[in-house]
Amino acid sequence: MSSKEAPIILSGRSNKPFARRVAKELGLKLGKVAIHTFSDKETQVIVKEDCQGRDVYIVQPTSIPANENIMELLLITHALKNMKPKRITAVMPFFGYRRQEKITTEGEALAFDLVAKLMRAAGIQRVLTIDLHKHRSAKYFQSAGIVSKELRAFDYIIEHFKKEKLKDFVVLAPDKGSVPESEKYAKALDVPLVKVYKHRSFHRRDKVAFDKFEGEVKRKNVLIIDDEINTAGTLIGVVALLKKRKAKNIYFACTHAVLSGPAIERLEKSRIKEVIITDSIFLPSKKRLKKIHIVSVAPLFAEMIAKWSKRK
Ligand code: R5P
Repeated sequence: MSSKEAPIILSGRSNKPFARRVAKELGLKLGKVAIHTFSDKETQVIVKEDCQGRDVYIVQPTSIPANENIMELLLITHALKNMKPKRITAVMPFFGYRRQEKITTEGEALAFDLVAKLMRAAGIQRVLTIDLHKHRSAKYFQSAGIVSKELRAFDYIIEHFKKEKLKDFVVLAPDKGSVPESEKYAKALDVPLVKVYKHRSFHRRDKVAFDKFEGEVKRKNVLIIDDEINTAGTLIGVVALLKKRKAKNIYFACTHAVLSGPAIERLEKSRIKEVIITDSIFLPSKKRLKKIHIVSVAPLFAEMIAKWSKRK
């Protein structure tokens, strides 16, 4: 591929180390973008790379602070549009508003749909994500006119546990929504699946309660699978249930380490042995607990970018 045909990888500020890893996998350097926040919290974006006629990928997971990171992505896209690139793709290893993919009460905004429409209005033509909360969410990209591809961290996380060669263990799905994915993990690791059902109060989204527990965990090592850890409320609740039922070591794996509010303190105090996450969201050093192990999904994104950039 000549240097003019190679994709250009740009990054917002939400996870630059991830963007660098992706670029490195592709044998590229990050393109130059200057981003500034004014004292009134407005964002200014200046793309300093000549992107005319080029296939451009903007790496910007819209994790905390979601609204600022979304605006940054939209501004980078808008700045690019004036340069007439061949194509603009958003690379979003974490998609903010991913959990607001349906209306749960009268009068509620359908946030996922709006974000997709804003992205299209700014000029995004394609989007690369990984492990969206609900796979059906892709329909919002489609109706906004954005081509999308949702990657899976599954192979990378399975690889980690296959290496650990854990004995006497079960996979646990912490809620109804996580059952299909956890089933795949249990199958791949050839171990039983245990199911727990939880519900959340609408007004206290961080408050969870558990209704049902299906399966045996006594003297077993338990691997809890979820798509994300946010406040760690779900995890801590499940760990308490496991303690009562005399489980042995507890492992937890998820794609997205949102780790908001009390999450780190909760993890620190909990008896969880190991927490496996990916680098979809940047983890600052103060959150890097010894028990946290990061698996990089940058090679997965790089592979997809390499494929997509060959398309006419
Ligand atoms: C919810 O349906 C998700 O799959 C996760 O279980 C949830 O987002 C975790 O949130 P938290 O850590 O705040 O309980």
